[in-house]
Amino acid sequence: MDLNTIERNETDSASQSAAAASAPAKKVFVKTYGCQMNVYDSQRMTDALAADGYTATDVIADADLVLLNTCHIREKAAEKVYSELGRIRDMKAERAAVGREMLIGVAGCVAQAEGPEIIRRSPAVDLVIGPQTYHRLPDVLARVRGGEKIVETEYAIEDKFEHLPQPKRAEMIKRGVTAFLTVQEGCDKFCTFCVVPYTRGSEVSRPVAQIVAEAERLADAGVREVTLLGQNVNAWHGKGEDSMEWGLGRLLFRLAEIPGLARLRYTTSHPRDMNDELIAAHRDLPALMPYLHLPVQSGSDRILKAMNRRHTAKDYLALLERIRAARGDIALSGDFIVGFPGETDADFEATMDLVGQVNYASAFSFKYSPRPGTPGADMPDHVPEAVKDERLQRLQALLLKQQQDFGLGLVGSTIDTLIEKPGRQAGQKVGRSPWLQPVIVDEKAGEIGDIIRVRITKTGYNSLFAELA
Ligand code: 5AD
Ligand code: SF4
Repeated sequence: MDLNTIERNETDSASQSAAAASAPAKKVFVKTYGCQMNVYDSQRMTDALAADGYTATDVIADADLVLLNTCHIREKAAEKVYSELGRIRDMKAERAAVGREMLIGVAGCVAQAEGPEIIRRSPAVDLVIGPQTYHRLPDVLARVRGGEKIVETEYAIEDKFEHLPQPKRAEMIKRGVTAFLTVQEGCDKFCTFCVVPYTRGSEVSRPVAQIVAEAERLADAGVREVTLLGQNVNAWHGKGEDSMEWGLGRLLFRLAEIPGLARLRYTTSHPRDMNDELIAAHRDLPALMPYLHLPVQSGSDRILKAMNRRHTAKDYLALLERIRAARGDIALSGDFIVGFPGETDADFEATMDLVGQVNYASAFSFKYSPRPGTPGADMPDHVPEAVKDERLQRLQALLLKQQQDFGLGLVGSTIDTLIEKPGRQAGQKVGRSPWLQPVIVDEKAGEIGDIIRVRITKTGYNSLFAELA
């Protein structure tokens, strides 16, 4: 799983939604930590609350309800939440002093992992709600207003997606021309470092009809690019419209038929679940972008075994060969952990070797962080922090060099770019390359939602500059 790699997603979601016309609208402030799935979940929670009369605000002091949608993947995540809760508690007291309420809720993976402990340590918290129960938010809030403190972290037997309201079309349009769509949740792989199987539960795939309907609604609201999300997205499977069992490859073909949807992506994948059908989709489906996030974590077979990844470095490289044979211009991205218990210098060098052989267009790398309750935490031979630091630095320098070389290699070439939003600087717009790089163009190059042909003129730190081809 590697959804959680996107650390830049600590966002405050602010979006307006239909408020009850009569009563003054209640306001909710949502803060999102962690991965893209949390970003998606925050939107769905906002939608559920909109149906309950809440509008979103990005001013926390104005909020009648503050929701932290938390992440538990690595170190100190829970501690960060507790210190944030301390700040919010003070704001709650200030509002109470002028006779106004501020409810505090903790959602997401820390909520799931810590449960009632959160209210014990932070008594100002009114509700704790896990990732599989947030469709019950309106009901939970009603009980909270009745004076109860609620911890709702049991896995619901009902399907939350069946119970979540759809956002209004106007709201969807405001969210832009790219969107996330969760198709799969949870994980049965039990990598020994990873907390996800415990916080998100076992693997569940959403049904085809639900996914197609949601993608159609997104397309109808002007979305041009959809990223399918799952902790193990390529393990997605379901009964198709032809009553046959579909895998992710077949689903991608079906979604590509939806008018308006020009680009498809999916994240995150496990090497063991890259099947022939999915590789064929990379070959035969132009809408499927030539970019694949396929984490390997380590280049050492010994460590891969200890991590319970259930493949070798050679298996991974052979798989990449098949994928590259199917789609020559595919760019690879990955996740790495340095300093897993027992990792020797030789193991680490094997990781450096593998990175050298693969040549990544982008990657995320982390120091191993023991997660309570996972097998890795109890393994012997933990690696000293200083060694982890040094290894991480070396690995990141290599990965950064590869990423920059990948950008430089594009200078002078002509590529498609989806225009996403106005640029930070006046006169510019920002688009996305097929390989996920931001592409800066002149604002007159096209309208938001257009896919334009551009020539790359130079690279920025993490972006490309381009002119109309
Ligand atoms: N320590 C460090 N990194 C971790 N990841 C997951 N669990 C841990 C952990 N305990 C990384 C993996 C995964 C990504 C989402 O986060 O690289 O792919
Ligand atoms: Fe990914 Fe492994 Fe964690 Fe599952 S257990 S989410 S495959 S890292």
